[in-house]
Amino acid sequence: MAKILVTGGCGYIGSHTIVDLIENGFDVISVDNNSHSNPAILEGVEKITGKKIKNYRVDLCNFDDTFAIFHENTNIEGIIHFAAFKSVGESVQKPLTYFENNINSLINILKCVQEFHIPYFVFSSSCTVYGNPDQIPVTEKTPPKAAESPYGYTKQMGEQIINEFSKSTPVQSILLRYFNPVGAHPSIQIGEMPVGKPQNLVPAITQTAAGILPKLTVFGDDYDTRDGSCVRDFIHVCDIANAHTLALKYLIQGKTKARCEVFNLGTGRGVTVLEAIRSFEKVSNIKLNYEIGPRRAGDVVAIYANNDLAKQKLGWDPKYTLDEMMLTAWLWEQKLKADTTIFGGQPKELN
Ligand code: WQD
Repeated sequence: MAKILVTGGCGYIGSHTIVDLIENGFDVISVDNNSHSNPAILEGVEKITGKKIKNYRVDLCNFDDTFAIFHENTNIEGIIHFAAFKSVGESVQKPLTYFENNINSLINILKCVQEFHIPYFVFSSSCTVYGNPDQIPVTEKTPPKAAESPYGYTKQMGEQIINEFSKSTPVQSILLRYFNPVGAHPSIQIGEMPVGKPQNLVPAITQTAAGILPKLTVFGDDYDTRDGSCVRDFIHVCDIANAHTLALKYLIQGKTKARCEVFNLGTGRGVTVLEAIRSFEKVSNIKLNYEIGPRRAGDVVAIYANNDLAKQKLGWDPKYTLDEMMLTAWLWEQKLKADTTIFGGQPKELN
């Protein structure tokens, strides 16, 4: 059974991907220093899969500690690298912290890939690498523009580092560009746990509906879009997770033709912020308390994916609807609120 190392395995997408990997017959270990995640999420993974996941509580910026994991686990066949700081807004406030953490941790992992001859590497990238695209939907060939934040730059730089690295070693890599991951596993045993006040739309919606936040602010309704609010490609986190399993299978089965391939992970449908709110109101039967506020600096006006390549080459077929994304997000928020004992307080803000 192929052993896969998942970095950031206690995170939102990492934990959902571990579930999908196990359900597809992979053996998984996690490394996560829990600076931005709660190890209790792996209890939820165990409830779903019946498997207890070992997590190495290691900071990937510490090379010796990272190296030791590979010494102890000599049969790692693939790595999925999620671990990174990921708040667009926070990265603007703390650029050096973001460059230091996201780039150093990636380089340390790649040094271990080289030293231990790991054959397959999957990287968590982002549609933020496209910046504000001139044409939508974006394909993998759409030229990246200037990133809108230090976070976006760490993803652009990460892709370039992996591209060059893959030319000089036998490793085969895949870069997965997520659009807007939302929702929770249908078992409602795992889901998103934002650190502090949520920056992203969907947890801000669910926390407003749960009374944790007093009101949602819609950042602008005067854009040149069908209803004036921004357009995004919301994609269920379980569809994102399954794409990682399919990407690994694609590599292991030797189907890749290049040393480093890129795939968009979006539904291919653009949804406005106000349409997302309507969907939430419909599935929750709650009238959401929101106001229209000023635009948010750095926001892309409209972006959504052309996902043909992932469908054709990986056999990926995203299946969750917008309503299902909103419903699972809402059910998870209610569980979080009810089970504060299990998940305790939120992880600390970045120190
Ligand atoms: C979406 C829309 C906001 C909060 C995210 C991730 C990024 C990348 C892409 C993975 C925008 C509006 C939000 C609120 C609002 N994913 N909004 N009120 O900025 O598209 O980026 O997806 O790597 O890492 O951050 O997501 O959810 O912050 O914003 O009106 O309280 O919702 O203006 O138009 P974004 P988001």
